[in-house]
Amino acid sequence: MPCRTIAVANQKGGTGKTATTLSLGMALARSGQRVLLVDTDPQGDLTKSLGWHAPDALETTLANHLNAMIEGVILDPREGILSHDEGIDLMPANIELAGMEMPILMAMSREQLVNMWMSPLKADYDFILFDCAPTLGIIPINAFVASDSVLVPVSAEYLPASAMAGLLKTVGRVRRQINPSLEVEGILVTLSDSRNNLAHEVEETIRRQYSSAYRVFDTVIPRAVSAAEAPAAGMSVFSYDGAGKVARAFERLAEEVLDRG
Ligand SMILES: Nc1ncnc2c1ncn2[C@@H]1O[C@H](COP(=O)(O)OP(=O)(O)OP(=O)(O)O)[C@@H](O)[C@H]1O
Ligand SMILES: [Mg+2]
Repeated sequence: MPCRTIAVANQKGGTGKTATTLSLGMALARSGQRVLLVDTDPQGDLTKSLGWHAPDALETTLANHLNAMIEGVILDPREGILSHDEGIDLMPANIELAGMEMPILMAMSREQLVNMWMSPLKADYDFILFDCAPTLGIIPINAFVASDSVLVPVSAEYLPASAMAGLLKTVGRVRRQINPSLEVEGILVTLSDSRNNLAHEVEETIRRQYSSAYRVFDTVIPRAVSAAEAPAAGMSVFSYDGAGKVARAFERLAEEVLDRG
């Protein structure tokens, strides 16, 4: 099976991007897929959520690879990849990535740097998932260029506003100008509290507005205290609360993603 690369993105903050990257990646790994997660957020939330609580102390992160691409320095693309004991790999990120923004913008192939680093790794994995920061800057655009598709988590706690339109426009621009095969993997409703009327309203609005043009996943990710606690323990929801509703939901999401493949 060829490697599938998916960017998890929404420029609105706190929509469950990092949680989705981590838990979808774990669910895919549990079904036998070889998975690499790539933290592309200078906050390093994905890195921290997997138990590397001091990302700034890590020697090699995504920033070093992008710098090596710009400078033409030879660096093994696997250098710095961390193995989590639940069976997935991680290319971490830290605050150094924030300092790379300007050098990336000045680089000759400024939209291609992540793709250039990642391409040789596609032979080693079935899935590569990128956790994007809540921006539409040059680093998420690099992730879109490297990806087959973009998966968009949307919080059930807010009616989707202009953020979605901006994101879908950017995806369209990348498709037209750089990566013609880029697709929208799907829109995923997250952080849903079934006792809350707004959550139902948001889900209905999203299905009504988007399902004719995009896949809206049948799976909705529920809000649960255990899912909010797991990252501090450096564990996935599968280890932290394997019988819980969030773990079940990510298993169903992984099935939907695999069905598409
Ligand atoms: N299913 C869930 N149930 C309860 N809390 C959750 C769930 N998923 C994520 N959270 C919590 O909600 C917050 C936002 O989630 P997350 O960090 O995944 O969003 P994000 O989109 O990556 O945010 P950012 O835009 O800052 O990168 C976090 O505190 C996280 O622990
Ligand atoms: Mg995040």
